[in-house]
Amino acid sequence: MNPSGKVAIVTGGASGLGRAVAETLLEAGTRVALFDRDPGRGTAVAAAAGESALFVGVDVTSEAQVQAGVERTLARFGAIHVCVNCAGVADAAKTVADGTPFPLAIWEKVIAINLTGTFNVLRLAAVAMARNEPDNGERGVIINLSSGAAHDGQMGQAAYAASKAGVIGLTLPVARDLAEHGIRCVAVAPGLFDTPMVAGLPEKVAQAIVDRMILFPRRMGRPQELAHLVLSIVENPYINATCLHIDAGARMSAR
Ligand SMILES: NC(=O)c1ccc[n+]([C@@H]2O[C@H](COP(=O)([O-])OP(=O)(O)OC[C@H]3O[C@@H](n4cnc5c(N)ncnc54)[C@H](O)[C@@H]3O)[C@@H](O)[C@H]2O)c1
Repeated sequence: MNPSGKVAIVTGGASGLGRAVAETLLEAGTRVALFDRDPGRGTAVAAAAGESALFVGVDVTSEAQVQAGVERTLARFGAIHVCVNCAGVADAAKTVADGTPFPLAIWEKVIAINLTGTFNVLRLAAVAMARNEPDNGERGVIINLSSGAAHDGQMGQAAYAASKAGVIGLTLPVARDLAEHGIRCVAVAPGLFDTPMVAGLPEKVAQAIVDRMILFPRRMGRPQELAHLVLSIVENPYINATCLHIDAGARMSAR
């Protein structure tokens, strides 16, 4: 799909990978609605982009808020062609730590945002996409951020890894459901990227990943490199129902 002149929703667009995706799509001529629960950073990103960007304060886990956000996007830009789900959290805990079990509240929060939130946004965006006039047969593209942790979850990542494996799991059935509408669904699994989320990791954990687990180039990914892949997926109609890894060959060990 040619991104120029199209409309995208980018969740988590106020920060990190979502912000880079939003900025790359804007440069490609796409108008972008940033769905994020952080109005401070979200309005700043949208204001810097001018008329082509809209910040929408949304918690991706809320049906009512996402539906209202979809309606605001349609009222402002007239359609939705691309939906990139980057909103996510990485709260961690060990399954048992000092005799205390993994707090169920953390499990429920991570699954709610990363997995249920992703599906909530994509299903509501897909209703609007299905009404588009086809562009070379295509009406829409959905791209969901998974993680290398879906396969190689580290210690403490039970909830995060399960949520990201769920994002890969829904890819094929969603692509099958939406194929008749000319809508693709693709997952992307990043390795370690230099974002505020990763800045929250203990420094020795991030350094150990760079030193011992990343093959080449031996550094964290740049958010623009992830955004470049997202743009390629939008542009290339033959990428569908799969998960693409972008991780410099990283294989995560237990810690
Ligand atoms: N950075 C990495 O190395 C890495 C690796 C693999 C996967 N990922 C995934 O990429 C995505 C983006 O990560 P990032 O590193 O840019 O993180 P980040 O913390 O920089 O950005 C995440 C954004 O999501 C928003 N958000 C969180 N919960 C939300 C909610 N309920 N509703 C709306 N917005 C919400 C936050 O406000 C923030 O702006 C996440 O899904 C993350 O799991 C990141």
